[in-house]
Amino acid sequence: MLSPQLSKSLNKQIELEGFSSQYYLAMASWAETQGLNGVSAFLYHHSDEERLHMLKLIKFVNERGGHGVVPTLKQPPVTFKSVKAVFEEILKHEMSVTAEINHLVDATLKEKDYTTHNFLQWYVSEQIEEEALARQIVDKLKLIGSDKGGLYFFDRDLETMSNEAAANEQAKKKPQ
Ligand code: FEO
Repeated sequence: MLSPQLSKSLNKQIELEGFSSQYYLAMASWAETQGLNGVSAFLYHHSDEERLHMLKLIKFVNERGGHGVVPTLKQPPVTFKSVKAVFEEILKHEMSVTAEINHLVDATLKEKDYTTHNFLQWYVSEQIEEEALARQIVDKLKLIGSDKGGLYFFDRDLETMSNEAAANEQAKKKPQ
C-alpha cells in the first residue's frame, strides 16, 4: 500500500510526464509546419513515449492501492526559435525530470518503500538514456550551426532513427 505522501508525489510525476508528452507534441507540430519531417517524426514518437511513462505510473499507483489522477492539460508553447532551441529545451526539461525522479527515489528510501523504489529504477535508467540522447543531438546541432545542408541531413537522420524505432516496436509486438 502506498503512503498518502508517496501517492501524492507519484501523482505529481504523472502530471510532469503528461506535460512532457504535451510539450514534445507541440514541438513536433511546430517542426512539421517548418517542413522538418524527420524532426517532427522523432518528436511525435518522443511525445508518445512520455504518454506511456505517464500511463505506467498511473497503473502502478492504482495497483498499489492509490489513485492515479489524470492531470489537466496545460498549453505548451506554440512556436520555437529554431531546431537547436527545441533540443536545448528538451535537454533542460529532461534534466529537471531526472531531478524529480531522484527526489522520488529518495522519498521511497526514507519511507522504506522498496517496491516503489524498485519500480522507479526503470525511470532512473530511462532518464540516463534520454538525457544522453538529447545531449548528443544538441552537440550535433552545434556542429551544424547555420549550415542549411547540414540541417537537411540531420532531418533525414532523425527520420531514419524514428523509422527504426517504430520497426523495433512493431517487431516486439509480434508473437514469437
Ligand atoms: Fe518521461 Fe522524458 O521523461
